[in-house]
Amino acid sequence: MQLKEKIETLLEEARKIRIASLEESENYRIRLLGKKGELNRLFEEFKQVEPSLKKDLGQSLNQLKNAVQEAIQKAREEFQGQNLSEEDPALDLTRPVETGTGYRHPLSLVKEEIFRIFAGIGFDISDGPEIEDDWHLFTALNFSPEHPARDMQDTFFIEKNGGITDVALRTHTSSVQIRAMETQPLPIRTLCPGRVYRNEVVSARAHCFFHQVEGLYVDKGVSYADLREVLLYFAKEMFGPKTRIRLRPSYFPFTEPSAEMDIACSLCGGKGCSLCKGTGWVEILGCGMVDPNVLENCRIDPALYSGFAFGMGVERIANLLYRVNDLRLFSENDKRFLSQF
Ligand code: DAH
Repeated sequence: MQLKEKIETLLEEARKIRIASLEESENYRIRLLGKKGELNRLFEEFKQVEPSLKKDLGQSLNQLKNAVQEAIQKAREEFQGQNLSEEDPALDLTRPVETGTGYRHPLSLVKEEIFRIFAGIGFDISDGPEIEDDWHLFTALNFSPEHPARDMQDTFFIEKNGGITDVALRTHTSSVQIRAMETQPLPIRTLCPGRVYRNEVVSARAHCFFHQVEGLYVDKGVSYADLREVLLYFAKEMFGPKTRIRLRPSYFPFTEPSAEMDIACSLCGGKGCSLCKGTGWVEILGCGMVDPNVLENCRIDPALYSGFAFGMGVERIANLLYRVNDLRLFSENDKRFLSQF
């Protein structure tokens, strides 16, 4: 093979080579740039060539040398970090740490958006404990003693005395409505956000804990029309100005009448798809007029005051906005998931 051809073959190799480790790069360096390496051999050969060819061949040789050095340098940069010891001259202990910025959790983003929307119409925020007594969880909310929500199957009991002194992990944030009505001056316009717990087998569609935001408005003359308008305003702010809602009659012990609110499916626009299971609507929250018994339990006179309440799952809203199909992702803290929001 002529010198020119040899150079070209090696040049092509240097340009295409895929070095997969530091060890491979060292072997390549020895084969090409070592004392008895290819390049030295080529330079020996170069000495013998006719002067008229020297300029051209000399340039090619230099090109080759540069390409080889570049390939080795690239591999070093790629793999050096994997194999550092303190003696390694490439280890620079004074280099500033590159940590990157953190991310807001998608559930925090959704929760804050809910706060923003309701702050615009005068709602503040109330807090309550995650470990709750039977009174605030069930009895004051008008649950009958035999209501299935009190069953061991749904509720994580901490202490079971068989009455209003039972202690459990809260199954919903409606308990905070009671605390708000017991302690705050009227009128009350408040949101109660928080984590809730239910004894469920963990899967893509159910979890033993999730997050709710409860809403409560108690004042003189609060009507079902107020509830509907507030929820329509919320849905439009959250899902876009064209969003349509519908209220379906439902049952909750603490509201009368009670309803569930659906929004027209944001994926298919109401035509029917897998997200809305062909119905064109997806359920997003439960709501209703606060039952007079509940007002009385909180020493509020139902002849003077009325109110509405609603409760929504934050994960559910996040699923609709971001199309997250597996509930478990929200609590796994996988950076690959969190960095997408
Ligand atoms: N507490 C209900 C649940 O966990 C949600 C709910 C429904 C809250 C209706 C309300 C309401 O305030 O009015 O499923």
